[in-house]
Amino acid sequence: MKLADKTVIITGAGSGVGRASALLFAEEGANIVVADVMDDWAAETVRLVLEAGGVAMPFHCDVTSEADVEATVAAAVSTYGRLDVMYNNAGVTGLTTGQTFDDMDADGFSRLVEINFRGVFNGCKFAVRQFKAQGNGGTIVNTGSIAGMVGFGSVVYGATKGAVNQITRGVAVECAAVGIRCNAICPGTMPLTNFIMAGRENAFDDVDNDYVEFASTFQPNGRIITAEDCAKAALFLASDDSINITGILLPVDGGYTAR
Ligand SMILES: NC(=O)c1ccc[n+]([C@@H]2O[C@H](COP(=O)([O-])OP(=O)(O)OC[C@H]3O[C@@H](n4cnc5c(N)ncnc54)[C@H](O)[C@@H]3O)[C@@H](O)[C@H]2O)c1
Repeated sequence: MKLADKTVIITGAGSGVGRASALLFAEEGANIVVADVMDDWAAETVRLVLEAGGVAMPFHCDVTSEADVEATVAAAVSTYGRLDVMYNNAGVTGLTTGQTFDDMDADGFSRLVEINFRGVFNGCKFAVRQFKAQGNGGTIVNTGSIAGMVGFGSVVYGATKGAVNQITRGVAVECAAVGIRCNAICPGTMPLTNFIMAGRENAFDDVDNDYVEFASTFQPNGRIITAEDCAKAALFLASDDSINITGILLPVDGGYTAR
């Protein structure tokens, strides 16, 4: 197993990429801290992991809060003995369909910066502190986006993801000498997660098949990008399979950014 006895915190693990990663990483032997603001979603992820024979615990964590992220790291260490992998995955979208850059208001701007950028900063900061205290390195995986690599249309969201991509490279360089690796996956559009569905009431339920089909046309390979695709890429970066890889931005995009 690729993550036997490793302790992994996954933020935003109540849904989408985070939930798919929790299930896959647990299958590979990891103890998972399912960190999310949505307590019932986190509880359901834990239930699914346990049902499949894995090990997981829920932890309420708003990634915008330093205190919450610090407490999440402390809970991982007190429950499972140490922290091996920090997966900073929580993120939110901004404008809805039809809106443009200049429709973004100040509150919407702040929300994106706080969750997508500060949230990843907080996760990197407290993971690095814990890894340094443990003394034998550690691994960080961040969820960036292709919207942080190329102009994509969701301008402020893309800028926050550009920041995630840059913090990934910066931490990788600064922490390489102490054995800490830091990489990012950069997904293309995933039409089946709650990110796109937005709105609590239809979460996990409604699939807009027309949109799913439309989203498949974004990629040169014509396939939709799924949470499970991202989980597999994240597993590679979280495990020793990528032991000599740090500071990379790995697109999971069916060739979108290659054009
Ligand atoms: N879906 C896409 O098209 C797409 C494309 C590129 C990148 N991404 C990125 O993938 C990541 C996962 O998104 P997803 O598609 O699985 O969406 P999702 O909405 O299904 O899952 C996101 C999870 O993050 C949690 N979350 C939101 N705010 C939080 C906070 N402040 N603290 C802790 N948890 C919080 C939500 O409760 C949810 O469980 C995000 O970083 C997103 O930006 C998504």
